Amino acid sequence: MQEKTSIQGSWASRWIFIMAATGSAVGLGNIWKFPYITGENGGGAFVLVYLVCILLVGIPIMMTEVFIGRRARKNPIHALEDVAEESETTRAWGLIGVMGMLSGVLIFSFYSVVAGWVLHYIKAMATGELAGATSEQAGAAFNALLADPMTLLGWHTLFTIMTIIVVARGVNKGLETATRIMMPALFVLLLVLFGYAMTTSGFSAGWHFMFDFDFSKITWDSVLVALGHSFFTLSLGMGTIMAYGSYMPKKASIGSTVLAIGALDTLVALVAGLCIFPIIFANGMDPAAGPGLMFISLPVAFGQMPGGQFFGFLFFVLVGVAAWTSAISLMEPTVAYLVERFKMGRWKASILLG
Ligand code: ALA
Repeated sequence: MQEKTSIQGSWASRWIFIMAATGSAVGLGNIWKFPYITGENGGGAFVLVYLVCILLVGIPIMMTEVFIGRRARKNPIHALEDVAEESETTRAWGLIGVMGMLSGVLIFSFYSVVAGWVLHYIKAMATGELAGATSEQAGAAFNALLADPMTLLGWHTLFTIMTIIVVARGVNKGLETATRIMMPALFVLLLVLFGYAMTTSGFSAGWHFMFDFDFSKITWDSVLVALGHSFFTLSLGMGTIMAYGSYMPKKASIGSTVLAIGALDTLVALVAGLCIFPIIFANGMDPAAGPGLMFISLPVAFGQMPGGQFFGFLFFVLVGVAAWTSAISLMEPTVAYLVERFKMGRWKASILLG
């Protein structure tokens, strides 16, 4: 039987697929959300519940998505319709694909806004705007940003254009090239920041906060937060992994490949926590500061440390790169659908969706 391939192209190797899917998985979820929900839900015990969710729920679902995508070599809607047809049941199962793609688009709609904040903070760190700021000043600066629609719109638009350009260039020239450049950069930045966090006086406190168990802090709500986050962080239920799976080389084993992606995503979340919490503790700040942890507490902490401006800048570049590779993957399933269903060019489809 002749091997099916996607009309969008396919990843050059299994390794590229692992890196692209890890790029999709590693994003704001790992570096912004995971540390603050860990902070809000009591640290170590929450990390353990999260790991169980990844292993028992996330990984099997990811394997299923990759399998369905690779089998059909089509966008998620058409891939699910194929499965339904082969099972001699109604093609209405394709609606699951519609729901996934819709959630991808909805996630992109807030993701690109938060990624816009990140671009703003890259600039703020580079120019030293927040150097030496107190918590009140950093909080006021963040609130001022949120109250300034034109600035928000500008950064949001810039981020969306950056994403459109990569997606429009296609699987090989766009997504794969971005993966080859951005993923090594992401790992190097993370390691440099981890090395920096290890030199701070808060490293041991950060470590204990992340890995000491206190089960009295675990409630049903925290289990739900962990479960929801395991979907978000692995990019499940958004059509993304199914679309990426449809470009996967035939010979690669789905089991070991998905395990590698899950392990890398988890590792990045844990290391990101070990970069952030030591810096928070070294400056006597609150680890449970919620969503503002990254945009208020961290800039204050960086602003008070030797070399903080430089490392703060590197930190926000890291977050920006992680958000970019994820945003690309959020657009890909719907762009693939528009191309395959309506024979649109990728540029047209990406601009329309963007
Ligand atoms: N998986 C992406 C993230 O964690 C959406 O940010």
